Amino acid sequence: MEVVVLDTPAEVASLAADTIEDVVRSGASAGTPAVLGLATGSTPLATYDELIRRARDGRGPSYDGVETFNLDEYVGLPDGHEQSYLATIRREFTDAIGIPPERVHGPDPTAETLPTAGERYEAAIVAAGGIEVQILGIGSDGHLAFNEPGSSLASLTRIKTLTATTRKDNARFFGSPDAVPRHVLTQGLGTITRAGHLLMLATGEGKAEAVAAAVEGPVSATCPASVLQLHPHVSVLLDEAAASRLVRLDYYREVYAGKPDWQGL
Ligand code: GLP
Repeated sequence: MEVVVLDTPAEVASLAADTIEDVVRSGASAGTPAVLGLATGSTPLATYDELIRRARDGRGPSYDGVETFNLDEYVGLPDGHEQSYLATIRREFTDAIGIPPERVHGPDPTAETLPTAGERYEAAIVAAGGIEVQILGIGSDGHLAFNEPGSSLASLTRIKTLTATTRKDNARFFGSPDAVPRHVLTQGLGTITRAGHLLMLATGEGKAEAVAAAVEGPVSATCPASVLQLHPHVSVLLDEAAASRLVRLDYYREVYAGKPDWQGL
């Protein structure tokens, strides 16, 4: 995996935006529009804002035909709730960049059809041709999407129960931990690792421990994000604070400084 340590969150966003745009551009020129995997949470917001800014300035690629798949969704929210991840990704990214709602997908949390939601989502991803690049954040407990510690490294999309840590972390969107739904649908770690390129973003000191466990710790369900170590094409983009607990920090910097010009992420 390639670990890139940048000075600021803005630099992380800019490099992530370059990478997404490259995938969208090559899809457009090949006539096979890109399939993007999107993450919610605060971390990717700066990347989405950067992509939107470039599109508005006329510097972005065409998003015609691009399809997107969210990582996860809350279960039990009323229809159209503003904190549902589908509503969130439309509001924060896809509406502004011009990807129509019918091409923006997320796991379906409808109560009546919940037992088949996982397999239907897996089938939808396959039918779209698979996810080319998947944006990921990381939870402070090492979770990826909503795969909490203990999740099978081979898991597929399914229902999960959030940990108390995650409900506390996400309370800021709901007012209190008690208002955060207990259940979610999430792509599994096995689903995530089927994407062609995994682009994990982490910024801020609060992520430093989870990042160190994911990147330099053992591969273990105890730290779900450590599954990245098993994937052939992973880029971990960090700011200084999120990288601060990495033991091989100097080496990662040396590798990136000497990266050949022809080699993208
Ligand atoms: C949520 C999401 C994850 C995200 C994590 C970190 O739990 N399900 O996909 O990576 O939060 O979010 P943030 O970027 O806000 O720290």
